[in-house]
Amino acid sequence: MSTRFTAFILTLFVFGNSSYCQKNTSFNVKKQLEYCVQQASKTLKVIPNDGTSPRTVPNGSKDWKFVNYKDWTSGFWPGELWYLYEATGDQKWEKQADKFSRFLTPLSVSKANDHDLGFQIFNSFGNGYRLTKNEAYKDIILKSADTLATLFNPKVGTIQSWPHNKFGGHNTIIDNMMNLELLFWASKNGGNKKLYDIAVKHAETTMNNHFRPDYSSYHVIIYDYETGKKIKGRTAQGFSDDSMWARGQAWAIYGFTMVYRETKDPKFLDFAHKLTRVYLDKLTTEDLIPYWDFNAPGIPNEPRDASAAAIVSSALIELSSYTKDAALKKEYLTKSKKMIVSLSEHYQSRDVNSAFLLHSTGHKPAGSEIDCSINYADYYYLEALLRFQKLKIK
Ligand code: GLY
Repeated sequence: MSTRFTAFILTLFVFGNSSYCQKNTSFNVKKQLEYCVQQASKTLKVIPNDGTSPRTVPNGSKDWKFVNYKDWTSGFWPGELWYLYEATGDQKWEKQADKFSRFLTPLSVSKANDHDLGFQIFNSFGNGYRLTKNEAYKDIILKSADTLATLFNPKVGTIQSWPHNKFGGHNTIIDNMMNLELLFWASKNGGNKKLYDIAVKHAETTMNNHFRPDYSSYHVIIYDYETGKKIKGRTAQGFSDDSMWARGQAWAIYGFTMVYRETKDPKFLDFAHKLTRVYLDKLTTEDLIPYWDFNAPGIPNEPRDASAAAIVSSALIELSSYTKDAALKKEYLTKSKKMIVSLSEHYQSRDVNSAFLLHSTGHKPAGSEIDCSINYADYYYLEALLRFQKLKIK
């Protein structure tokens, strides 16, 4: 038997056997999900009754800052509520998820403000439709996909991320990869088939222009509106134009993994593996929670970004399911689990505030949301826990 084949069989045994998971780890996903339920229950009690939802708890505070439906993060809180409904089956969460999702309805009939519609609508109504098949949600998702598509510039081949902040051209940020899921879903569920082509074109253009030779991502690429030519790569939220902003690379890993799921085109899978390789190889922290930027000048005295770790840990679980390379699968699952365990054991907010996690960094160059609790870290942490739980049941 070849060594490779032996390793494959061993991995199948290790990860396919739930009793292995139970015997060899004290990590208890159910307990972490219960913790999320308790924290979210506390948060529910402090949300004002004015259509807003919780976004962030600043470092040193116990109090949430609330935002309305227009904020780019407005879909994460309803998304968490849907995940809690999925985790518990308790209709209390369905009721709350429905209530907070519906606050976002105006987005589906407004002009597109920016690319964040995918985050906003798919995490809220997308999860809601997946779990309830409520036709009203579907209508909102389909309308929002058409709205997002209005930002597509065929001369460039991407959706413009920030129409209000032009940086001297058509700008696309790596985060935008995440919003393609809304377009794929709509194209397959009664929406315009062209949405699929737009999503694929955006992914291809991004693959060709958004990365350095080592597969680390730029945050922003500026294109010429008319010729579609790339002008330059730069940053907005990272340390420098040439640095690897942790959350940007995390969005890229998650985004290209999702694009492979939706297209089954192997070039996207191969690319997702390459993006993951550079992230994992450059990760120097013992607990696998990255500094906010891999090239931040003050490392090791720089803030971490728990949100990037939550995004990557969730993505790795999905990416691991697309490889037949036993060693790679094992590496992805082992590291994903280590990230989830680190977040659970050393980054939970517990009594500090009612978010799930501490130590995320939103926009360090702007001096905003540094080393704080933030709703998208909580959303992807919960998603990773649920994905991990499903993996163990298999
Ligand atoms: N999409 C904005 C961010 O990741 O901060």
